[in-house]
Amino acid sequence: MRMFGRSVVGHISRQVNRQAECAMPLSFPEAYQAFEKPLPRGHGSVGSVRDRSVIARERSFNHRLSQQRLQGCGKTKWHWAECLSHTSRTCRLPFTISAISLILLCSTLQAQVAVEANTGYKTPEARATIAKTLSSDERDSRQRPKELIAALGVKPGMHVADIGTGVGYMLPFFSEAVGNKGHIVAEDIFPDFLAKAKQLTASKGLKNVEFIQGTDKNPSLKQNSLDLALVLDVYHHFDYPAAMLAAIRAALKNNGRLAICEYYKRVGAMGDPTSDRAVKHIRLDEADVIKEIEANGFKLVKSDEFNPKSQYLAIFEKQ
Ligand SMILES: C[S@@+](CC[C@H](N)C(=O)[O-])C[C@H]1O[C@@H](n2cnc3c(N)ncnc32)[C@H](O)[C@@H]1O
Repeated sequence: MRMFGRSVVGHISRQVNRQAECAMPLSFPEAYQAFEKPLPRGHGSVGSVRDRSVIARERSFNHRLSQQRLQGCGKTKWHWAECLSHTSRTCRLPFTISAISLILLCSTLQAQVAVEANTGYKTPEARATIAKTLSSDERDSRQRPKELIAALGVKPGMHVADIGTGVGYMLPFFSEAVGNKGHIVAEDIFPDFLAKAKQLTASKGLKNVEFIQGTDKNPSLKQNSLDLALVLDVYHHFDYPAAMLAAIRAALKNNGRLAICEYYKRVGAMGDPTSDRAVKHIRLDEADVIKEIEANGFKLVKSDEFNPKSQYLAIFEKQ
């Protein structure tokens, strides 16, 4: 990027230098100054006689430029717009193209913030191993899915989304709570997880679940359609939290709620009480998650410990 920026500045310098017909290569501010101060008459013009006096004037001109350089040309204020108005049309077009490319490049270089948490999800084999832990028999005792449904206030007829559903662990509990008139959107970014979630709902005969494959920036939810969006053990996997929050916000109805059930970023929060896994794996602790979500168009309703020393449940309203 730096090199790219340099080449743009270098290009402008070359153009200005060419225009100034200067005998010595100048840096950008110097070239700009040279542009403002016209060359001595006859300097470099076609057909000029390069006799001693011209050479002397050239030398004196070059000497003046060196003096300017020594006196701190670099401190001169750059007026880009002004400079551009001085430069030729041939310079303006490439500059404009370069500037637009630079802006586009910057916009595609958004940092992925959950690299650490997502390293274990890269291959189908790794995800198959994770799938086993997400659907293990002992999970209910840790995750307490029925208590979670109660704490979320899920009622018959509600439209809810399970963002990052994984293998669909919460779907049977949601399905029972919203009933026949309710609707559940089960969303994830990986088709292999979604395939397992579909198998689960088919095996249990659940009829009120719709599956969506989203991307890491967009869960592809219908706008203004949800009463509740649950993000269970998923927020720390969001590589682009602002984009995801904007899309979830747009999908919520006006009084819709976003629920984040997430591990604390603390020693012992994920399993073994002495393990620092959560400190490494979880991007932000509760207070910073709340801050980040509130900065993206939500207002905290309440946040309570959900599983002692392990997980909290934060509920937000759409602002
Ligand atoms: C630890 S698993 C939790 C799965 C499920 N919520 C559960 O509790 O069983 C994290 C899940 O988040 C998903 N995920 C990661 N980034 C995501 C994103 N930007 N949007 C939606 N899902 C995402 C992963 O594919 C994975 O299924």
